[in-house]
Amino acid sequence: MTELIPVPWPPAPIRTERLVLRGSEARDRAAFIELFASPEVGTYVGGARPRDELERAVPEVPGRRPGVFVVELDGAMIGMTTLDPRDAERPGHVRPDAGEAELGYMFLPQAWGRGYATEACAAALDWFSDTHPGEPVVLSAQTANVASLRIAEKLGFTEVERFEEYGAEQWFGVWSSVTSAG
Ligand SMILES: CC(C)(COP(=O)(O)OP(=O)(O)OC[C@H]1O[C@@H](n2cnc3c(N)ncnc32)[C@H](O)[C@@H]1OP(=O)(O)O)[C@@H](O)C(=O)NCCC(=O)NCCS
Repeated sequence: MTELIPVPWPPAPIRTERLVLRGSEARDRAAFIELFASPEVGTYVGGARPRDELERAVPEVPGRRPGVFVVELDGAMIGMTTLDPRDAERPGHVRPDAGEAELGYMFLPQAWGRGYATEACAAALDWFSDTHPGEPVVLSAQTANVASLRIAEKLGFTEVERFEEYGAEQWFGVWSSVTSAG
């Protein structure tokens, strides 16, 4: 089973050409609320949550768990990319014991369309292949989420299967540092 927990968290900030990936801080709270309250962001990921509910429920430092990278551009959070163990109860697995690391990503709409999600996810996958050599990473996305499927393709994920979940067709793919250029 993939364990993200034993890895020291947060790691040192990861710098890409344009972005910084780092652990979350209290100053990111407003951006987390924006992400989860945005109907555009929620289109293929279960919908937006009411802002007043988020204001009450989101902790002072949100996303403070191993695997959550805040993605920063010019000193401000524009999104997040996550590596979490995939729930064994859900369909879609590539290991007999399940618990694979699953990649996730959400960005604020004003940051879309400039390659930031792909750049951030590539850096997170690099980090993962260094800290968990040879471990696969899985990804599922609604087939209607064309931007997400394009990111999966650009990152080098390959399709394993499709299935129905949450009332929609899901694409399920896998990435491995062994078979991908990165
Ligand atoms: C999906 C998401 C992360 C993309 O962020 P982004 O920074 O715009 O992504 P990138 O620019 O790195 O790549 C998006 C790719 O999809 C393409 N794309 C975007 N919308 C598209 C559409 N409607 N049809 C076809 N291609 C589309 C872009 O052109 C780009 O491909 P390209 O580099 O070949 O031109 C962002 O839209 C988001 O946060 N969505 C809401 C949350 C979500 O759905 N997350 C994924 C859950 S599986």
